[in-house]
Amino acid sequence: MLVVASIVFLGAVGMLVMGWVRRDRPGLPFVGENETANTFLVVLFGMGIPIAILVALFVISDLVLLKETDAPDAGSTAMTVTVVGHQWFWEASYEGGAETANEIHIPVRTPVELVARSADVIHSFWVPELNRKIDMIPGQANSIELYAERPGVFRGQCAEFCGLQHAHMAFRVYAEPRRRFDSWLASSERPAADPQSTQAKQGQRYFLEDGCAACHTIAGTQAEGTVGPNLTHLAGRDTIAADTLPNTPEDLFRWIQNPQSVKPGTKMPGLGLGAKKYHAIVAYLTELR
Ligand code: CUA
Repeated sequence: MLVVASIVFLGAVGMLVMGWVRRDRPGLPFVGENETANTFLVVLFGMGIPIAILVALFVISDLVLLKETDAPDAGSTAMTVTVVGHQWFWEASYEGGAETANEIHIPVRTPVELVARSADVIHSFWVPELNRKIDMIPGQANSIELYAERPGVFRGQCAEFCGLQHAHMAFRVYAEPRRRFDSWLASSERPAADPQSTQAKQGQRYFLEDGCAACHTIAGTQAEGTVGPNLTHLAGRDTIAADTLPNTPEDLFRWIQNPQSVKPGTKMPGLGLGAKKYHAIVAYLTELR
C-alpha cells in the first residue's frame, strides 16, 4: 500500500510540476486544445485511475489484512483466555479455572484465542504488538487471536473511551516460554496460601470483616466478591490498579488507603480503616504469591 501510495503521490506531484512548467501554454501536453482529448485525460487521471487503485487496495485489504486478523477458526488455537472489561480493569480467566487481572500470561509461539466481553460499557482490548484491537461489547463475545513471536511483556490499553479512568485502563501481556507459562498457570489455579506473619493474619481478618471481601475474591477464603479484581495471587503481579502503579507495599498502601486520590472515580472506595489496619492488609496482600 505504501508503494502504491508513493507512486500515486509522485505522479500527482509530477503533474503539478508539469502544470507549473506549462503555465503559459494553453491545453494539455500531446493533445493541445482538443476538447474531447482533454476531457478524456481529466476523467482518466482524475477519476478512472484513482477509483481503480482504491478498489484494488480495498479488495486486497479485505482479502489479506482483515482475514489475517479475523477471529480464529474453531480448533485453530491451542487455548482460550476470556477477558472481561470492567470500569476500569481487566479480568482474565483461563479454562482450568485460573483467574487474574490486568496481567495476562500466554505461552510464546502459540496461537491463543482471546474472547473479549464487557461487564458494563464498551471497552476495546488492544495490544498493538500482538494484533489489532477488538471491541468489548456488553452482552456479546468477540474474539481475536493473540500470537507472540518472541517472549516479552507487551503493553495493552483500552482503546474505547469508557469513562473517567479510561486512560488508566492499561494491562500487560506476558508471553513466556511454555514451561514458565505452565508453572505460572498451575500456581494460578491453586487457592491462596494462608497468611504466615502475625500482621498478615490480622490483615486477613480486616480484609474479610471490614468490607474488602464484598468486592474482591481471594480463592480459599470467604472473600468472593466480583465487583473488583480477583486478588488470589496479587503479590505475583508487577502492577496494581490496571497498570497504574508498581506493585510495591508503599504503592499498595497508598492505593487502598485512598483510591480516589490515585484514580478519581474508581469504584473502589476509601474505607477509612486507619493506618494500622491498612498496614496489616498490605502485609496480608503481599503474601498472596
Ligand atoms: Cu475501558 Cu476505555
